[in-house]
Amino acid sequence: MKYNFDEIIDRRGTSCLKYDFGMKRKGRSDLLPMWVADMDFKLPDEILEDLHKRIDHGIFGYTDPLDDYFEALNHWFSTRYGYTVKPEWVTLGACLVYGVHISVQAFTQPGDGVMVMQPVYYPFSEAIKQNGRKLVNCQLKYDGAYSIDFEKMEKQMKEENVKVLIFCSPHNPVGRVWTKEELEKVGDLCLKYDVIWMVDEIHCDFVFPGHKFTSVFNLDEKYQKNLAMYTSPGKTFNVAGLQSANIIIPNPELRAKFKQANTSAGYSQANVMGQVAIKSCYTKGAEWVDQLVEYIWGNVCYMKDFVEKNFPKAHFVDPDGTYLTWVDFSGYGLSDEDLEHLMVEEAKLWLDSGAIFGPETKQFERFNLGCPRSVVEQAMKQLKAAFDARGL
Ligand SMILES: Cc1ncc(COP(=O)(O)O)c(C=O)c1O
Repeated sequence: MKYNFDEIIDRRGTSCLKYDFGMKRKGRSDLLPMWVADMDFKLPDEILEDLHKRIDHGIFGYTDPLDDYFEALNHWFSTRYGYTVKPEWVTLGACLVYGVHISVQAFTQPGDGVMVMQPVYYPFSEAIKQNGRKLVNCQLKYDGAYSIDFEKMEKQMKEENVKVLIFCSPHNPVGRVWTKEELEKVGDLCLKYDVIWMVDEIHCDFVFPGHKFTSVFNLDEKYQKNLAMYTSPGKTFNVAGLQSANIIIPNPELRAKFKQANTSAGYSQANVMGQVAIKSCYTKGAEWVDQLVEYIWGNVCYMKDFVEKNFPKAHFVDPDGTYLTWVDFSGYGLSDEDLEHLMVEEAKLWLDSGAIFGPETKQFERFNLGCPRSVVEQAMKQLKAAFDARGL
């Protein structure tokens, strides 16, 4: 490989949420952090050079995207996924979660139903609850693998005043990369019941062999009537700290509603370094991402093999994509508290407990594999030692 993803880079002392503030929050420094979706890899030189160049200019005033910004977005979207968007469809935002909150405010009224499919990235539920909307959960079906409960979705859309569906594609934490057919079925239900389809595609670049990412912009144009798509290189290039996202809304009426709420929130110009990063990542980062995804796939295969050999009562949910893995420990029959104790106090791992993604997945743990292989190996070693010590 041209790029070295094995390198361990000390992130402590860099105001890093995953290590510094994370540790401060937990009040300890002995845990191996594999929680928040933040990777431990350094950007390649070709992108760092662009950031350095902009810093050397020395002036960091207000900014507004020019043509080259939209050309960079479309370069990425077209070369990797075969679609383009019109520049006027795109609104810049501080981050995806910000865009989701603003959209919930813009597209719904207090008390309206907003659908999510748990287990799912928990800030979706927070955006619904914090804005006084009603959370309608169309729980994913689970039989060792995950699928969408279309029957339930239709019933809820019909009966529960659902105005918006917040949809994660690919799906964090279960790792599903939805097929074109699944997306069309969801899109058809949204059209039928006049539900605005908010689609978060932030994990789109992490797709494993045998699977293919389909963007909502690869689907028939009819779905664009009530569509809002959210994306950024935040996960792919780990530039979340540069606080930049793109909210893409083709329908002008829907877009006007979003822009109105965005302006009311006081947001005006985007982050200048974020824009430099987006342009550079999306025009120069393809080879790095290809190798990164291959590396992460190696991490996933390593962990799957280890879990299957060493934790016979656990179930490793095969991910189609993302750098997150999702493991079901319910087979061990531990209480929720005991499982948490085992992970934190005995295995000394800081994971994201399944409880935060929905009430039905307290026996699951989410592992972040966006790290050097040796870190995954160390985590598995610690987990095995903890299970062995208990004779599990
Ligand atoms: C599905 C999903 N959406 C959004 C985000 C966060 O995006 P941002 O940092 O731009 O708010 C994450 C981060 O983990 C995520 O997994």
